Amino acid sequence: MTTLREAGIPVIIDCDPGHDDVFALWLAAGHPAIDLRAVTTVGGNVPLMHTSRNARVALSVAGVADVPVAAGAAGPLSRALQTAEWIHGENGLGGPDLPEPTFPLDSRPATALMVDVIAAAAERVTIIATGPLTNIAILVRDHPDAAERIEEVVWMGGSTERGNVTPYAEFNAWVDPEALALVLSSGIRLTMVGLNVTHTALVTGAVRKRLAAVGTRTAAFGEELLEFFCHTNDQVFGLPDGPLHDPVAVMAVAEPEAVRRVHTRLDVELAGSETVGATSVDLDGVLRRQPNAWVARSLDVDRFWASMGKAIARLR
Ligand code: BDR
Ligand code: CA
Repeated sequence: MTTLREAGIPVIIDCDPGHDDVFALWLAAGHPAIDLRAVTTVGGNVPLMHTSRNARVALSVAGVADVPVAAGAAGPLSRALQTAEWIHGENGLGGPDLPEPTFPLDSRPATALMVDVIAAAAERVTIIATGPLTNIAILVRDHPDAAERIEEVVWMGGSTERGNVTPYAEFNAWVDPEALALVLSSGIRLTMVGLNVTHTALVTGAVRKRLAAVGTRTAAFGEELLEFFCHTNDQVFGLPDGPLHDPVAVMAVAEPEAVRRVHTRLDVELAGSETVGATSVDLDGVLRRQPNAWVARSLDVDRFWASMGKAIARLR
């Protein structure tokens, strides 16, 4: 075992790697506050075949071979899958040459692996979701007993402000808004870590130097990922310091005091002619509905990058 996973918070990461998902996996695998028990994959940034391989590539590069990775839903609950090759490349991890994963996919479907991990855990398990919420919605719908033993779902997605795939919708929310609606209606504790916060986690030149200075194989692979990711973010959004969204959700679990959040009302648009997937966050309470989610408002950015550097340094 190469990671420090003896006494941390038990966590499952559900992801769609994706450049920033890789850093989420590394932050979790290398952070002493987290005990990464399983990884599940979903179709999102790229089709499931790629996300399931990429999750194993990310862990293999980092020398983590003892965390099971299982494939989940190939596409959303009731829509066709929309992908994001224009940001992540054709295989989802544009930039470096991808090595063969050092371990195979788990034979169980994602939700079966989640159920087993939750049942085997002495404590309640936290799920960090960094893609569309399809797998989590299926778990909640089909395995309510297991869902009751989830401590919290901490999800990178949505926004209190504008979107990144339509003017008002963030990608993960937009790909499967029905999944978000189902998770919200389940009563499970949900924290949304949206673009309003992740757009402060910018991969500046100073950040890239700092991470490259870690000097490991994982850091070098990461630098190749960031080169590609910053280039596509510049081309698409005019953001040469690309926002590294997904690991901010991990930070909210590992170091909750670094991510300030408020308890508020969160809903998602399912039927708007221009606004499907937009998250409606009633920060001022004007709707007078019961709060149903925690929503991140700010990030201690320096602390985030310091923790990222330390986590990567603990990996191979
Ligand atoms: C989210 O969409 C994906 O492209 C990223 O991996 C992240 O999860 C940001 O909108
Ligand atoms: Ca993602």
